[in-house]
Amino acid sequence: MSGGDGPDAPAGLKEALPISAHHSPGITELGALRRRAREDPEGFWRPLVEGLYWHERAGPIFAPRPDPPYGQWLKGWTTNLCYNAVDRWIATPRRNQVAFYWEGEPGDRRAISYFELYREVNRLAATMRQLGVGVGDRVSIYLPMIPEAIVALLATVRLGAIHSVVFGGFAAQALADRINDSRSRLVVTADGGFRAGRTVELKRIVDQALAQTPSVERVLLFRRTGAPVPLEEGRDVWYDSVAPAGPVVVPPVWVDATHPSFILYTSGTTGKPKGAVHSTGGYMLWLDYTTRAVFDLHERDVFWCTADLGWVTGHSYVAYGPLLRGATSLVYEGAPTTPAPDRWWKLIEHYGVSVLYTSPTAIRSFIQLGDAWPGSHDLSSLRLLGSVGEPINPEAWLWYDERIGRKRCPIVDTWWQTETGGILISAQPGNAVTPLKPGSACFPLPGVDAAVVDEHGRPVAPGQKGLLVIRRPWPGQFIGLWGDPERYRSVYFDRFPGWYYPADFALQDRDGYYWLLGRADEVMKIAGHRLATAELEDILIMHPAVAESAVIGRSDAIKGEVPVACVILRPGYAPTPKLREELREHVRTSLGPIAVPAQLYFVARLPKTRSAKIMRRLLRDVVEERPLGDTTTLEDDTSLEEARRAYAELQREIDRERR
Ligand code: PRX
Repeated sequence: MSGGDGPDAPAGLKEALPISAHHSPGITELGALRRRAREDPEGFWRPLVEGLYWHERAGPIFAPRPDPPYGQWLKGWTTNLCYNAVDRWIATPRRNQVAFYWEGEPGDRRAISYFELYREVNRLAATMRQLGVGVGDRVSIYLPMIPEAIVALLATVRLGAIHSVVFGGFAAQALADRINDSRSRLVVTADGGFRAGRTVELKRIVDQALAQTPSVERVLLFRRTGAPVPLEEGRDVWYDSVAPAGPVVVPPVWVDATHPSFILYTSGTTGKPKGAVHSTGGYMLWLDYTTRAVFDLHERDVFWCTADLGWVTGHSYVAYGPLLRGATSLVYEGAPTTPAPDRWWKLIEHYGVSVLYTSPTAIRSFIQLGDAWPGSHDLSSLRLLGSVGEPINPEAWLWYDERIGRKRCPIVDTWWQTETGGILISAQPGNAVTPLKPGSACFPLPGVDAAVVDEHGRPVAPGQKGLLVIRRPWPGQFIGLWGDPERYRSVYFDRFPGWYYPADFALQDRDGYYWLLGRADEVMKIAGHRLATAELEDILIMHPAVAESAVIGRSDAIKGEVPVACVILRPGYAPTPKLREELREHVRTSLGPIAVPAQLYFVARLPKTRSAKIMRRLLRDVVEERPLGDTTTLEDDTSLEEARRAYAELQREIDRERR
């Protein structure tokens, strides 16, 4: 088969075509939809399912099951995620529409149509197949934000293989751990990438990681920076030298809707990251639905989700969601302030971006840089703004509304998680008649049965803080933790049997609006990135000088939270500023820059309970310099005094250095 014309239009395509119709329901319609989703799920989901392509259909859309996650979506239905995201458009006029505008940090530009994307995906799929990748194999992807990263996701699922993307900002140890846990056979990477005016040497980090990853057979390399890199004979190959020269077509592999499409590692409360496994059909349905319901993309839109592909937001709203809707997106490779603090606003002006989806941390950093930067650009193409990843404080919300949206654009604050696949709680823009409240994610989408409860599972009164729960399965729900069914059950389903427990605090106000109030476990959100305190502690202890450590998240005006480490040294090591820097560097090279403690101080003892559990809550009180919480379970008061003294001494030292 030649790659010239692409496949014939499949049955069921027509329903999927008109994205120009207004999809976002109004307020009255929304209430009816919510009821319908609750009372007649099959009837609610059926038309949405029909908008996607299924190769074979057998069985109900949803079948309850006694064990977590308490149900299965579309079991017996076969499909292919790549086919739905790419091939489906090739037999339609959308074939020649731009799927992605891409801009590299140095300023290079590409515009990739759906047809070009189709060709590139097939070329890479053919190459991966030739390198031995088959159904169910894991492929680790460690790339900068270049178009090939999206192509790599699509090519992997085209073959029925499972991708595991590792964020390009993670260092060697973090990469090795993720490769080993997934036992990937192939690593797809590049010579390097551009970030903040510098190059990141990805291949060098891969080489370090691969010294400890026996499962990896091949490394496929894209050229990005042009820097010379050493190749290991028999293992490493340049894509250019092995890819087919002309167009090829690799038939999509039809897999069951419950077949895993990807693993994405995220932090839990232990040092070992959890590999959240997503399905194919349910995930696809959820992304198609939420992209439509929340962003309501039309032909004239240019959608820009600023997340990196290494996080779930990148998977769902840079890659799959917009492609499943046949939309046009912008993808940008580099740092927001390179070469100047108006890079983002320039991009919006140049490409006429109409929907911007970003994080509160990004917004807060822009506030700091001053209003003149966005102020000098034409942002009139924007019609909708989104926020994700951490609670958005009202100040940031109002600035976003005024300085970026110029008070014309609704803001959707979207709450969700790596585990949920896509957005669960958010305003819907067509629903602008509902007044938005700065800092509130508004309401669960129809089909999401959320509640705020106390620790016994009883609903709490309006205005009271409680624990968020989701009381019924939804299609985008993750289907497991890679290789660890016990952890899957115990972390997410044991606390409230029958429900999903996300470990977030929330409250509902008197009007029923949801306010998300941060994590209810030992997980930090650093600039919106998720990191377990235990993960950082495990890395610190690998250094020969460290006997023990406790890490906590301290609130930060820009990043939301930053890690602070309290360290006990082994005998023979002196607590010097030099050692402090060495430990921070050790974290940078093992885990990556996002994990580097903002502050690190030394103590001889840690505050612990009588059963030897570290009381991080009290350490947090110390570093936030506020009155101590309940200390009755503390074994030894002097440890806390010491922490306080050591932390105060560190502040004095920092002040001296500043002067
Ligand atoms: O605490 C919540 C916070 O981010 C956590 C999920 O992190 P992650 O899996 O990395 O996914 C981030 C991107 C979806 C949640 O448990 N979070 C996410 N969105 C919001 C939020 N907190 C408040 N408001 C949000 N809109």
